[in-house]
Amino acid sequence: ALHASFTPKIGPKIRPSNRLNPQASAFKVAVLGAAGGIGQPLGLLIKMSPLVSHLHLYDVANVKGVAADLSHCNTPSLVRDFSGQSEIADCLRGVDLVVIPAGVPRKPGMTRDDLFNINAGIVKTLAEAVADNCPDALIHIISNPVNSTMPIAAEVLKQKGVYDPKKLFGVTTLDVVRANTFVAQRKNLKLIDVDVPVVGGHAGITILPLLSRTRPSVTFADHEIEQLTVRIQNAGTEVVEAKDGGGSATLSMAYASARFVESSLRALDGDEDVYECSFIQSELIPDLPFFASRVKLGRKGVEAVISADLQGLTEYESKALEALKPELKASIEKGVAFAQKQN
Ligand code: NAI
Repeated sequence: ALHASFTPKIGPKIRPSNRLNPQASAFKVAVLGAAGGIGQPLGLLIKMSPLVSHLHLYDVANVKGVAADLSHCNTPSLVRDFSGQSEIADCLRGVDLVVIPAGVPRKPGMTRDDLFNINAGIVKTLAEAVADNCPDALIHIISNPVNSTMPIAAEVLKQKGVYDPKKLFGVTTLDVVRANTFVAQRKNLKLIDVDVPVVGGHAGITILPLLSRTRPSVTFADHEIEQLTVRIQNAGTEVVEAKDGGGSATLSMAYASARFVESSLRALDGDEDVYECSFIQSELIPDLPFFASRVKLGRKGVEAVISADLQGLTEYESKALEALKPELKASIEKGVAFAQKQN
């Protein structure tokens, strides 16, 4: 049963620590795609976590230097580098949490779906390795298009007979981070207090911020709802255009991913008050086997889906939900078809 009211934890407690506390640093985390634009700052933020004992960095190139560099930070985790297909099993064995930011990012003019042809195969290969070497780990998929890559990973895990829907996550934390920032700015709120759940998927109109569910409770004029919603949906493109060919969001994404990692590890560690939004297997919406929602995290991954967020939506939100369904359904089916065809 779900509690009607709860206090969501706002953000992770990322705090540097140079005290070696074996009880606080018990988890092994692997980052696949660790030498990339997201992977490097993400590695740094995870290296700062007192909950992590081992940080395994995997990439197809350039990961040795990243690991050597990070290993000099005097925080508890032991950093190791792994490169290429021959070392991925060693990278993954015994790991509690795997984060996957491997793959190409967008350039101006591209949609996330334009990345499908390259990233679908990368995620499939990496998901197979996870299934073979650490089937009990939590898996965070960052590689875009998340609306398709997450279903690909689910399908691969099913084919390998190790799929646990409570442990596979498409990372949508950046949408929440952006929503919180933009709403706080617009309404002059203290940023640390603001929490906006974002549901649906992770591309364009499939990103649905539930502004009516903003905490603390605020009222928005119609034009504010429209402007904020559109800005949150297009925030990734804002960064892609500003970088002008240099890639997509990396620093804010690393921040968001580190928050989700920290939340997941706190939940694994027994904290009973951890809530995050994520794209997960879902039964909330007919015809959409995957849907981003706010979830309660626990020792075994997703402990509960907060379905109450979708009750009593405003007319604007209900229409937006209807509008996103066909696109999200098509993206999910594209991913599933890819994984089944390749098998
Ligand atoms: P990047 O190109 O800077 O880094 C990607 C890294 O993946 C590179 O180091 C590359 O060598 C590595 N890689 C490629 N194939 C690999 C394989 N088979 N195994 C292991 N590593 C491999 O790209 P960036 O900016 O780090 O973005 C990575 C992905 O994250 C992109 O697909 C991007 O669209 C996605 N993204 C997702 C967001 C989200 O909110 N979920 C937000 C921002 C980006």
